[in-house]
Amino acid sequence: MKFFIDTANIDEIKEADKLGILDGVTTNPTLMSREKGTYPDKLKEITSIVDGPVSAETVSLDAEGMVKEGREFAKIADNINIKVPISKEGLKAIKIFTSEGIKTNTTLIFQPSQALLAAKAGATIVSPFVGRIDDITNYGMDVIRDIVTIFDNYGIETEVLVASIRNPLHVVEAALAGADIVTLPIKVLDQLLKHPLTDIGIESFLKDWEKVQK
Ligand code: E4P
Repeated sequence: MKFFIDTANIDEIKEADKLGILDGVTTNPTLMSREKGTYPDKLKEITSIVDGPVSAETVSLDAEGMVKEGREFAKIADNINIKVPISKEGLKAIKIFTSEGIKTNTTLIFQPSQALLAAKAGATIVSPFVGRIDDITNYGMDVIRDIVTIFDNYGIETEVLVASIRNPLHVVEAALAGADIVTLPIKVLDQLLKHPLTDIGIESFLKDWEKVQK
């Protein structure tokens, strides 16, 4: 499974990159609104750090606008992946991007039917939002499992990226479901490493080592 980081913050991206686990980055308008500078400049900086896919999200609601924005983003670096929301206009834009060899990430997926149509149109990645589904008291991970099953049934190569991750269990369940990618807020990346027995173990080894030195 690939690990992406869900942020536009350069320090967080550099920190994750140092861990040797970083396969890509996802950004969106909300994440970008927390940072200073322009979106293109930020994307340029991110792509200079990370070799893997870096998602840049369009904000137009019509295919023409999405394509115009996406083509500009795609000029920034070869590893830019154009994020478009699922909609009829989004599908039209995906079809055009695909014909031009521009990679895409279809975002705001909440049900398997949306993922299936995005894949059919040529999406490189689909992003179901597991946490936001859980937030309205439904099982987000069920949607992930269904999409993975459908894609496996038909040998669909579009990658399933589990987005809107809120906790470490989402990551483990995504891996069990056979998802291709998880995108993590830095907080969840930290939580994935934590276990109280690890902390207790380190503390007791250090205490015992001090005794050896005396
Ligand atoms: C990823 O591509 C999404 O933009 C992101 O995971 C959304 O997460 P949120 O539901 O926490 O905003």
